[in-house]
Amino acid sequence: MSEEPGRIPSAILGASGYIGQHFARLLGDHPFFAPPLLVGSDRSAGRRLEDLWQLPEEVPGTLARQRLRPLTPRELRARGVRVVFGALPSGTAGVLESECRRRGLHVFSNSSDHRMDPDVPLLVPEVNASHLRALTERRRPGGILVTNPNCTAAGLVLGLAPIWKLLAPREVHLASYQALSGAGLPGVASLSITDNVVPFIREEEEKVVEETRRMLGTARNGRIHPREEPILAQCARVGVRDGHLEAITVVARRRPNRSEILDAWCRFDPLAGATLPT
Ligand SMILES: NC(=O)c1ccc[n+]([C@@H]2O[C@H](COP(=O)([O-])OP(=O)(O)OC[C@H]3O[C@@H](n4cnc5c(N)ncnc54)[C@H](OP(=O)(O)O)[C@@H]3O)[C@@H](O)[C@H]2O)c1
Repeated sequence: MSEEPGRIPSAILGASGYIGQHFARLLGDHPFFAPPLLVGSDRSAGRRLEDLWQLPEEVPGTLARQRLRPLTPRELRARGVRVVFGALPSGTAGVLESECRRRGLHVFSNSSDHRMDPDVPLLVPEVNASHLRALTERRRPGGILVTNPNCTAAGLVLGLAPIWKLLAPREVHLASYQALSGAGLPGVASLSITDNVVPFIREEEEKVVEETRRMLGTARNGRIHPREEPILAQCARVGVRDGHLEAITVVARRRPNRSEILDAWCRFDPLAGATLPT
């Protein structure tokens, strides 16, 4: 891989999929990262990104003609890659990401396999950037592994974090109406979703509950300690392309008024001042 001065050599695992294409869209011309190597399985190996492209946005020019390759973690390392963005299906992701980390690559993963590992931060930077401390308090040999949450849990914690102390919740109840994008490619069968709401998404409710409690928890002694308040979730799939709708009910110990809640949401801007490109 060609070293570009000042830009970090990277790769996308699962570059043919829905999340992989979003990574490509964001990384095609990024000030911090060199255009990434695109990794696919044997099924997509040899195909150009432009031929696999499914997003409404344009395929990035720097990556459009790159052919996907089934590169192993060892080969990525040998090509000088330092950071890997993971967009693999669960199961496959767990094995490959562990191997990448063991070989000294830094992994940022969208998959669920490592989200509950005690020393792996499950990160929404606005909410729990302090959990990154777990990586330095209990340093493993090799690279680091950071995960991001299920899309429904990500929206839920962003709504709750600014008002958590204000409300002191006793319980949280969530009903979600989730878009088709959340199911990846090729997505939900058209005959299942047309004129329908699908009231079951396998393991979704369990993930939303566990991940939310974890992200709102604290990092101590190299481990993440989840919150203990009960969270109840009910998740359905609806025939919308992008954007999940969430209805959240909080059973609260405190009773702030409406303007205190709105004010807390309006003032919530924890990344203000960070020099980030997005
Ligand atoms: N969609 C969302 O909104 C969303 C949100 C949060 C998290 N996630 C998580 O992110 C991950 C990716 O989701 P997705 O929606 O993008 O799924 P997807 O569209 O099915 O994409 C996964 C891609 O991984 C590739 N792949 C499979 N095995 C591989 C291997 N051994 N090496 C390299 N590539 C391989 C597959 O393509 P080929 O086999 O053709 O190469 C496939 O295109 C999943 O773990 C998912 O749970 C998704």
